[in-house]
Amino acid sequence: MQNPPTRTQVAIIGAGPAGLLLAHLLHRRGIDTVVLESRDRSYVERRQRAGILEQGTVDILRATGAGRRMDRQGLRHDGIELRFGGESHRIDFPSLTGGRSVMVYAQTEVVKDLIGLRLDEDQPILFEAEALEISGIDGDSPQVRYRRRGQEHTLACDVVAACDGFHGIGRRSLPGADTFERVYPFSWLGVLADVPPSCEELIYAHHPEGFALHSMRSPEVSRLYLQVSPDERLENWSDARIWDELANRFAVDGGWELGTGPITDKSITPMRSFVTEPMRHGRLFLAGDAAHIVPPTGAKGLNLAAADVTLLAAALLRWYRTGDEGGLDSYSADALRRVWRAEHFSYLMTSMLHAQPSRDPFELRLQLAQLHYTATSAAAATSLAENYVGLPLPGAEDIVE
Ligand code: APR
Ligand code: PHB
Repeated sequence: MQNPPTRTQVAIIGAGPAGLLLAHLLHRRGIDTVVLESRDRSYVERRQRAGILEQGTVDILRATGAGRRMDRQGLRHDGIELRFGGESHRIDFPSLTGGRSVMVYAQTEVVKDLIGLRLDEDQPILFEAEALEISGIDGDSPQVRYRRRGQEHTLACDVVAACDGFHGIGRRSLPGADTFERVYPFSWLGVLADVPPSCEELIYAHHPEGFALHSMRSPEVSRLYLQVSPDERLENWSDARIWDELANRFAVDGGWELGTGPITDKSITPMRSFVTEPMRHGRLFLAGDAAHIVPPTGAKGLNLAAADVTLLAAALLRWYRTGDEGGLDSYSADALRRVWRAEHFSYLMTSMLHAQPSRDPFELRLQLAQLHYTATSAAAATSLAENYVGLPLPGAEDIVE
C-alpha cells in the first residue's frame, strides 16, 4: 500500500482477536475500518495463547463466513476432565447446557483466518504501525497518530476502537477510569510438544504440588501447563523435568500414561485478573485485553474479546444505520456485566485448582470439597459447564445478517 488511508469510519488499534474480529464484523455490514498493528504479521500469527472457543464464539465465526477452516480442523469437545485425589471425573457439556459444547482451535489459527479474509477483500491492515496518540475523543472527529516505517501519520475517524491488548495505549487514553486487579502467587509454565494428546478431552488436574493442564492444538500436537512459582526460571526446567512433573501431577489410581515427545516451545506466563471501568469515553471504546485480563484457567480471554466486539459492532451498526446512540451508550455497562461474570468464573476455577504457596491445609480441604461437589452434584457441574461453554452472546443476532 503506497499511501496509507487518512480517514476511515472506525479506526481499530490492534490486530489481535479483538481488533480483527471487529474489523471483520463491521466490514461485512458495510462499515469502513482501518486496522493499525504495531507488530509484523508473522509475530501476531505465531503468538501462543489459549485455544478454546466458546459455543457463541464458534457460532459468530461460522455465521459470518470466518469458520470454514475451523470447521475442518477444529476439534469439537463435549466435556472436560477434572482430576483430583487420584481420580478422574468428567463434566459433560451438552447434557448440562442444552446441547452446547466448545471448539479446540488455536488462537493463532483464528488470527490467521481473520487476517487472510481481510487481505483477500483488500481491506487495510497496517502492520508495523504503532499508534502513538489518540486525540479528540470528546468531539466527533477523533484522530489516531501513528508511526510506520519511521514516518508519522494521522488517521481521522468517527470512532476509535482500542483493541490493543493489556500494554496498549487505549486504556491510558481513557480519562477517569477505575481499575481492579488481583495478581496470583503463581505462574504457568506452558509447553508445546510434538506428541499426540494423551487424552481426548482437556484434563484440569488438581495436585498438592500444583495444578497441571493437558490441552492440545491438533491430533499431533499437545499443549501442556504446570503451575510454577512466579519467580521460576525457564532454565530450571529441562524437558525431562517437565515430563516427570507432568506425569506426577496427572497420575491417577489404576494408572494412566502420558505420552512424551519433543518440546518445541516453552514459556512462563504470570496470572492476573484485571478490569478497567468504564470501557468507553466519548468516541473511544476499549475491547478485549485492553480492558480486562483473566487468568487462563477458564479459557475466557479470547471469548471475552469476541463478546466485546460483537456487542460493539452491533452498537456501531445501529448508530450508523439509524443515528440511535443507545447501543453505544450502554456498551460499557453491557460488556462489563459479562466481563465480571467471566472474571468470577476464571477466579473460581483458578482458586479451586491451584496449590496455595503456603500449602495451607484448610485451603486444600476447601478445594477438595468444591471439586468433589462439582464432580457429584448436577447443580454444581451445570454451573461449571454453563460458564465454560459460555453464556449467550448479546448483539450476535443484530450483527449477523
Ligand atoms: N499500536 C498498534 N498496535 C498495538 C499497540 C499500539 N500502540 N499496542 C498494542 N498493539 C497490538 C499488539 O501488538 C497486539 O497484536 O494490539 C494487539 C492486541 O492483541 P491481543 O494482545 O491479542 O489482545 P486482544 O485482541 O484483546 O486478545 C484477546 O485473546 O488469548 C487472548 O490473551 C489474549 O485474552 C487475549 C484475547
Ligand atoms: C490452551 O489450550 O492453551 C488452554 C486451554 C484451556 C485453558 C487454558 C489454555 O483453560
